[in-house]
Amino acid sequence: MSANRPAAVMILAAGEGTRMRSATPKVLHRIGGRSLVHHAIDAAQGLNPEHLVVVVRHERDRVGAQVLEAAPDALLADQDDIPGTGRAVWCGLTALDARAMAAATVNGHDRETVLASEVSGPVVVTSADVPLVDTALLAAMVDDHVENERAVTVVSARVPDPTGYGRIVRDGGEVTGIVEHKDATAQQREINEINTGLYVFDAATLRGALASLTTDNAQGELYLTDVIAIARAGGSRVGAYIAPDAAAVEGVNDRVQLAEAGRALNRRIVERWMREGCTIVDPATTWVDVTVTIGKDATILPGTQLQGSTSVGANAVVGPDTTLADVEVGDGATVIRSHGSSSRIGAGASVGPFAYLRPGTVLGDGGKIGTYVETKNATIGAGSKVPHLSYVGDATIGEQTNIGASTIFVNYDGVTKSHTTVGDHVRVGSDNTLIAPLVIGDGAYTGAGAIIRHNVPAGALARNSAPQQVIEGWVRERRAGTPSAEAAERAAQNGRLSEAAASGEPVSSQEGNATRGEQ
Ligand code: UD1
Ligand code: CA
Repeated sequence: MSANRPAAVMILAAGEGTRMRSATPKVLHRIGGRSLVHHAIDAAQGLNPEHLVVVVRHERDRVGAQVLEAAPDALLADQDDIPGTGRAVWCGLTALDARAMAAATVNGHDRETVLASEVSGPVVVTSADVPLVDTALLAAMVDDHVENERAVTVVSARVPDPTGYGRIVRDGGEVTGIVEHKDATAQQREINEINTGLYVFDAATLRGALASLTTDNAQGELYLTDVIAIARAGGSRVGAYIAPDAAAVEGVNDRVQLAEAGRALNRRIVERWMREGCTIVDPATTWVDVTVTIGKDATILPGTQLQGSTSVGANAVVGPDTTLADVEVGDGATVIRSHGSSSRIGAGASVGPFAYLRPGTVLGDGGKIGTYVETKNATIGAGSKVPHLSYVGDATIGEQTNIGASTIFVNYDGVTKSHTTVGDHVRVGSDNTLIAPLVIGDGAYTGAGAIIRHNVPAGALARNSAPQQVIEGWVRERRAGTPSAEAAERAAQNGRLSEAAASGEPVSSQEGNATRGEQ
């Protein structure tokens, strides 16, 4: 990490991002579970700058809210009507100086000290649309700037296709300026060393050069890039730091580039976890947010997405084809082909295949949420199992309890949601309907197919399925001519045949053949 702490980092985020064709401002589009501006803020904060300022304008309230969520101490600087990156930096610097002077005033300094307290030293400028830039790159840029005693350092990159970017113009190897693509001559457009939009400026040099920018260019904007030539003409030392990895400084201007940056970021994240000791079988189809953690010897199978604050414990197995958002997976647990959010899965527990864990699901150690089971706001104790085809909503289930297949916790009467409590070591029969509010005591049993409307005391058996009625011959009589009636007829004949065989009576061969022929 850089020993050179910058006075300030300024992130430009005022542009609209028209090429995204979106109602959402470009810098709020997300990759790796974070907005682009949040990525820029994370990288900046790694430098531990004295001040962090973000220049906003388009959708300033939405962008500003995201900025302050990511960095509560950040200063929001509003860009005015005058367009261009040069104006954006001027607005940012003015806001920074105002803040520094206000602080000096509060501290009771005299007028001269207050006026002299404007920001000085290295100021880093980055864009909110270069999400793969990390702290290491920014630190290397600041170190290069300080070591070479420059007043201006621009980060450049050599790229195969420089279309659209500003070009670094050199004279005998020395950087003399930057020319924007739209202003470049045919000859300048051949230059494949581009401006990445990352800079370090000496604050005083920057302040001076910004004052002499003009809009005399193809876009009628104040270009920050003109500061390079202006500073050089004024006798300042300017130069370029060539980015070691051109892919890491690519900007996002449209959704194709957004997806490319997302994949590159994901690749970086999954490689990090593999190096930490986690098996990721297919990095290309495993998507992991920057905020996720994965334990040692965990295995992530193909088609899996781990999002938000999800954490996967050591030796756990997740996937294939599983999406978990804000889910804590305990050590040694398995989660197969499932979807979960805001839930906790205990150590050694098993989930899926085809389970749906909605918010508030807490599965105890060694517990099971099996196949075609949906849970919501449900605590399922250690060792308890909901193995098949069930809905468990608004419930607390004790330890070592088994919920029979196809049981529904009826939590909603159309107006209110009610809670069901099931004790320890309970055996709920298959196909039960448990109508909340309800309490089933420890060790109780319920019969198959029961509809449980009233509390069941500990240790009791509750059953209420109606006695079975059997009406012999009903199908042959009331559904005559149907395949069911024919099947019933054959069964009756077979019954007579086997009765006859048992009693040793001769059997009509015609009847026997007809029966067999239909099988
Ligand atoms: C800019 C550079 C170009 C460089 C490229 C790298 C200028 C004039 N050009 O071009 O040399 O190769 O970045 O990606 O600087 N912004 C504001 N206020 C504005 C305009 C832009 O805050 O008035 C912000 C945008 O939100 C964005 C950043 O500045 O985060 C860059 O703006 P953008 O319009 O994308 O500049 P480019 O045309 O890419
Ligand atoms: Ca850009």
